[in-house]
Amino acid sequence: MNAQPQQISLFAEIASAYAASTDGVLDNDSLYSTVAERIGTTPEALGTRTPIGRAGVPRSTVKRKIRWYQQTLKQLGIIEHVPGERGVWQLSENAGKDLHRAATGVTLVTFSTDLGIAIWGNHQDVFRQINAPIALCISSPPYPLRKARAYGGPDEREYVDFICGALEPIVRSLIPGGSIVLNLSGDVFEPKKSSRSLYLERLVLALNDRLGLALMDRIPWVNYSKPPAPTYWACVNRVQLTTAYEPIYWFTNDPGRVRSDNRRVLEAHSAQHQRLMALGGEGRLSSYGDGAYRLRPGSFGQVTAGRIPRNVIERGHACSDTAAYRRRAHALGLPTHGAMQPTSIPDFFIRFLTEPGDLVVDPFGGTVKTGLAAERLGRRWLVTEWMLEYLCGAAEMFRGFAGFEMNKVLQNVGSAA
Ligand SMILES: C[S@@+](CC[C@H](N)C(=O)[O-])C[C@H]1O[C@@H](n2cnc3c(N)ncnc32)[C@H](O)[C@@H]1O
Repeated sequence: MNAQPQQISLFAEIASAYAASTDGVLDNDSLYSTVAERIGTTPEALGTRTPIGRAGVPRSTVKRKIRWYQQTLKQLGIIEHVPGERGVWQLSENAGKDLHRAATGVTLVTFSTDLGIAIWGNHQDVFRQINAPIALCISSPPYPLRKARAYGGPDEREYVDFICGALEPIVRSLIPGGSIVLNLSGDVFEPKKSSRSLYLERLVLALNDRLGLALMDRIPWVNYSKPPAPTYWACVNRVQLTTAYEPIYWFTNDPGRVRSDNRRVLEAHSAQHQRLMALGGEGRLSSYGDGAYRLRPGSFGQVTAGRIPRNVIERGHACSDTAAYRRRAHALGLPTHGAMQPTSIPDFFIRFLTEPGDLVVDPFGGTVKTGLAAERLGRRWLVTEWMLEYLCGAAEMFRGFAGFEMNKVLQNVGSAA
């Protein structure tokens, strides 16, 4: 997949230089010359010094740039100083024990297949540089929870700007009739009150006003395996009911050309409908709703390929991919994700809203379930996630797919555990 932004390359080259060196150890002079060669900079250009800063001290700008990325790798815990050796660094053995968030401006291809690419980085740093035509963005962004998850999240007051900012570059690349699908939370309450926040309503209006998105549907994802919540208002104070659904919002930039097709998501007919089709349909004549609906002899007798799904998705959390991801992340000593979707959620929307070969993106990728569903369905995909360890765990799920490649520098993340 050719969506690799230019900016990724210098960071990746530096990281790869460490990965390619003996035992991952490299002194700075060797680092400079290896990276210079990889990026096509001549030894003369590398040695050229220009006055820098107020004091005008002559320095090599290329070396300075390399050192900046080297420092970033250090901050991320990917490389560490070799004790007692000045200017010598090695791939950190501790990388991957905790969550490492990508620093601003740092983006790195973590793994890729023939169809897709998972990038470690802030979505802003990636999607602003991508102009490939996007057919679908499906995502479960961090919710504005009062008690944020391990990966953090914006608070409710900044939420509308946060989501509009994330979607703006994606909407710019959305093909006519493309879709945006957001899995959000309805369980955000007004401070110290049992009443729900109206942030969802504000968000829908803002996406329409600011980005021109039209609301196609609000689809409840009904999940009876959710733990009982809101704990205080339902279980202690007893004024609310326990939540059994999350709203999924579906938007398009052009309802007149929307690319959805419910024939791609047909379900099996019920036993009763199958009986009717076998009998050639209803035998009675009847009417309902003051004549709005009529049953005639032969109604429901036409043999069709399947049942059109209702706009409610009923799924538990149980998912064999989630279980496999957890097992593999544990085995590698990686922290596991606290808010995964079952793959069946992106799978449904990708089938409904796209065709094979289309590009599907997810700016808040987590464990790359969107990528996994897209890969299996023959769609191209691009996912960003700013916590390195989630991607390293997710990579394990892609090893069998055509063209799988893990970034060399990340191959030992977690393996020391
Ligand atoms: C609700 S989770 C997504 C879970 C995912 N659907 C799955 O099934 O694994 C939201 C993810 O967004 C990531 N995230 C938050 N802010 C981000 C940003 N600015 N850029 C990239 N990823 C971000 C978080 O680290 C978290 O993993």
